[in-house]
Amino acid sequence: DKGNYKHFMAKEIHEQPEVLGHTLSRYLDYGAQSAKVAGADKIKFKDLSRLVISACGTAYLAGLVSKYWFEKYARLPVDIDIASEFRYRETPMSDKDSALFISQSGETADTLASLRYCKEQGAAIGAVVNVPESTIAREADVVFQTIAGPEIGVASTKAFTCQLTVLAALALQAGRERGVLSAEDEKKLVAELTEVPSLALKALASEQAIEKLSQTLSQATNALYLGRSTSFPLALEGALKLKELSYIHAEGYAAGELKHGPIALIDENIPVFVIAPYDRIFEKTVSNMQEVAARGGRIVLITDQKGAAESGNAAQDTVILPEMSDIVAPIIYALPVQMIAYHTAVFMGTDVDQPRNLAKSVTVE
Ligand code: F6R
Repeated sequence: DKGNYKHFMAKEIHEQPEVLGHTLSRYLDYGAQSAKVAGADKIKFKDLSRLVISACGTAYLAGLVSKYWFEKYARLPVDIDIASEFRYRETPMSDKDSALFISQSGETADTLASLRYCKEQGAAIGAVVNVPESTIAREADVVFQTIAGPEIGVASTKAFTCQLTVLAALALQAGRERGVLSAEDEKKLVAELTEVPSLALKALASEQAIEKLSQTLSQATNALYLGRSTSFPLALEGALKLKELSYIHAEGYAAGELKHGPIALIDENIPVFVIAPYDRIFEKTVSNMQEVAARGGRIVLITDQKGAAESGNAAQDTVILPEMSDIVAPIIYALPVQMIAYHTAVFMGTDVDQPRNLAKSVTVE
């Protein structure tokens, strides 16, 4: 049931404040102000030399965000790859490695094959899945379920942000178990994560502005998305979503990679989405943005008030989100990225919930 929404995707985007709240309360102990992930002991974070993560599509991009978190908050090296590559790569593994697989459906063929490879190698297997009775959930040693509820739209939205939420809690849990995250820092980070549902609600308030600029975007034939750090996977996610829903060709790049090739694409016809919360590396992203502006690129900056004030006049359009801490930013910035793709697709008149050539669950390789 779509309720009052035109598409399941719109409904699922708007469900995020609620389902993120459900997912947070499963994995955080609000009283103790700590991460509390049942079954995390199976992953043996304390003794790990490496965490291997594999998934497909948007689920892979959730994993890519979590690499920044596991490395920063838990000093745990992460090796992440898309499952279709990982499964045939013959990566060496030891009992000092554990593996994590991320999947909304829990049935994705390549992700399942990667899981089976790691299992054969003797690694402990964790799965972040949304469907608890799925094959991936059954074959894992421990399941960290996303509490997103059923996701009907083919494009993953609420499952993605719930995956990020589970992974953030896991990173804090790993940091504590590895003795690198102080109780004080953990408390602070948990308090920040507690803000996610209300921040998500505020992010949804940017929808009207996004709808307006999506109308212009729907005239484009190409688009670029740029971001650094945890905004880099979001740039990839923005491009993936725009492609699959509106059929507009889009690419996501790490902002610093621009001058190594893609800057050649810039002209006045290409919209460039810059995802840049005002953080420690904001200045770096802004200088890449100015390089785009100098070549006539049409910039849409997604940032906060501070970022907008510090960005000069390079952007034609700005989507303003509330100010927020580093750990919550990729979860919340996912919402405007989803809404841009959604509204552009609606203007294009494409089948938003069931884009051509795509299936919700990819059970063949
Ligand atoms: C993109 C999208 C896909 C899925 C991918 C993995 O919006 O939905 O890229 O993320 O097919 O699917 P799951 O998570 O079911 O393994």
